[in-house]
Amino acid sequence: MANHSRFTPGILKKARWHIQDNQVTPESVFKARRHIVKAMGLGAIGASISGYVQAGLFDLFGEQPQTSFITTPLTFEANARFGQDEVRTPFDKVTTHNNFYEFGTSKQDPSDNAQQYKVEPWQLRIEGEVERPITLDYQDLTKLFPLEERIYRLRCVEAWSMVIPWVGFPLAALLKKVGVTSKGKYVAFETAFDPEQMPGQKSRLMGGGIHYPYVEGLTIAEAMNELTLMSVGLYGKTLPPQNGAPIRLVVPWKYGFKSIKSIVRIRVMDKQPPTSWNQLAPHEYGFYANVNPAVDHPRWSQASERRIGEGGLFSAQRIDTLPFNGYSEFVASLYEGMDLRQFY
Ligand code: MTE
Repeated sequence: MANHSRFTPGILKKARWHIQDNQVTPESVFKARRHIVKAMGLGAIGASISGYVQAGLFDLFGEQPQTSFITTPLTFEANARFGQDEVRTPFDKVTTHNNFYEFGTSKQDPSDNAQQYKVEPWQLRIEGEVERPITLDYQDLTKLFPLEERIYRLRCVEAWSMVIPWVGFPLAALLKKVGVTSKGKYVAFETAFDPEQMPGQKSRLMGGGIHYPYVEGLTIAEAMNELTLMSVGLYGKTLPPQNGAPIRLVVPWKYGFKSIKSIVRIRVMDKQPPTSWNQLAPHEYGFYANVNPAVDHPRWSQASERRIGEGGLFSAQRIDTLPFNGYSEFVASLYEGMDLRQFY
């Protein structure tokens, strides 16, 4: 495995039409531009040309293409303990500025390429060092546990962030259901492997050099922590495919690449499992990947972040990054006595 990769989660050679994070457009301007596009008759042209060219056209006006995924409303209760007072990142940013390399490496690729992704039927297997292994079907994912809404900050290792209202259930509830044995020290997660539906899994270039299926892992203490969420929805509805439908992990105190999408297997293990980004570039992406402003990425600072969807027309707001992404009170005790430079 290469020591150093030119691929990073999203820091790649950008296509010419790539929308800069600091050029995200407030909704009012976005709508006004839609009118300009219409008035110029470009809407009709847009309909007759390829999505490839269309992307460039939209970028000219700072607009992101609309997506057509179908999501259904969920029944849940808001959990007032988690972020109800935070300013949420607008839905259109949450669903069009994504990292999901199975669908391509640019921020718009997942929303462009995942719309036809079929999530039903789906099976999620929970196995390994557990007393009662189970396989959940698509319907089970939203029915087995009471769902709650939690508003979490998501901090990507690329130094941008969002605030997302997730709907889901604690991973701990699932692990309690299957009963972790005394040998269970780590939890491994695996994304679906389906090259027919996930074009990034077919082409090494389109898939960013990752060896698929995408895999991730947590210690058992991290997995059992109350913050660790299995998400089945956002903004009150089932997950759009580009955000990891039908079920994904959300670990808000860690860099976003730990929050693995479209999970088909959870395996409790006695050893630390391999993780995709660590395999690709071990010196850049560690197993722990806790958000830490004091430990820079080898190629950029982690001291601050761009909050997507806030700020003016050409600038997203730059804010200080907080240790453990501001969740120290929940998780700092997990790492007491650990050198976080060594265990990055
Ligand atoms: N999961 C899979 N299977 N494939 C990916 O490429 N990207 C990760 C993570 N989960 C990724 C993934 C990264 S780098 C980030 S920042 C988050 O998903 C982004 O989640 P979002 O697109 O819902 O904001």
